[in-house]
Amino acid sequence: MGGLHENIFITFLLIIFFGIYSSTSRAEDQCFVCHESIGGTEVELYKKDIHFKKGISCSGCHGGNSKSEDMEVAMSKANGFVGKIKGDQISLACSKCHSDKEMMKKYGSSLPTNQFEQLQKSVHGKLSISGKEKILQCITCHKSAWNCIA
Ligand code: HEC
Ligand code: HEC
Ligand code: HEC
Ligand code: HEC
Repeated sequence: MGGLHENIFITFLLIIFFGIYSSTSRAEDQCFVCHESIGGTEVELYKKDIHFKKGISCSGCHGGNSKSEDMEVAMSKANGFVGKIKGDQISLACSKCHSDKEMMKKYGSSLPTNQFEQLQKSVHGKLSISGKEKILQCITCHKSAWNCIA
């Protein structure tokens, strides 16, 4: 009986330990912490995103300083923050990681990193009618892999 209780106790400690451990790394991500406290669909959607599961902050795509609790500092242009990612900026934001083998390795990924190159070469990489941006962005096709707005 004693052994059983001991095992339960150790399991309990492990659960607490890993619970704290995983929420500590999340807790350092001030973008997420503040946005979760505000609530809203972006955060709820993002929790289901592969990027969230890989520990990537909102700042992975939107820039800014994810270590600052001060929203003025966190979301300042000086720290590279972009609120509304538009047009060709979208594919460029994705490609910061997806065209960079070393960066992807840091996240433990060995996926190919040629998507941007292929997009540029393809018929979809041509300019749109407006002449200001490409016909397709990464998110046109990857609606389900990327999620922070409905
Ligand atoms: C202390 C709270 C706080 C922190 C920290 C914070 N935000 Fe925000 N964020 C807000 C609030 C409040 C709004 C909505 C009001 C506004 O637009 O100013 C907002 C708006 C946004 C928007 C929408 C902007 C737009 O133009 O529509 C994005 C995107 C965003 N935040 C991303 C981030 C990222 C990325 C970080 C970290 C680098 C971050 N936020 C850190 C509170 C915060
Ligand atoms: C994987 C990249 C990525 C991540 C991570 C990400 N976003 Fe976004 N976000 C985008 C892109 C791209 C757009 C523009 C989508 C469009 O125009 O269709 C966007 C748009 C938004 C908008 C709408 C801004 C507007 O008014 O046009 C808000 C708000 C927002 N994101 C908040 C967040 C928050 C909060 C987080 C973290 C919980 C987050 N995003 C994480 C890529 C990302
Ligand atoms: C901060 C780095 C980073 C940024 C920015 C980023 N990604 Fe990712 N992305 C990753 C990592 C890491 C993975 C996981 C790769 C793996 O599992 O091997 C991933 C996975 C993916 C996948 C594969 C999903 C699956 O189900 O296997 C797609 C598609 C994707 N990202 C699209 C995007 C799009 C679209 C954007 C821009 C809106 C974007 N990513 C921005 C790092 C990033
Ligand atoms: C014309 C539609 C389209 C566009 C635009 C597009 N993709 Fe894809 N992407 C796909 C399809 C289809 C797949 C294969 C899906 C699968 O096998 O699950 C894919 C696969 C991927 C994968 C997974 C690769 C693998 O081997 O598992 C990643 C990561 C990815 N795309 C990122 C991007 C990024 C980043 C961009 C923008 C530079 C982009 N994609 C633009 C359609 C597109």
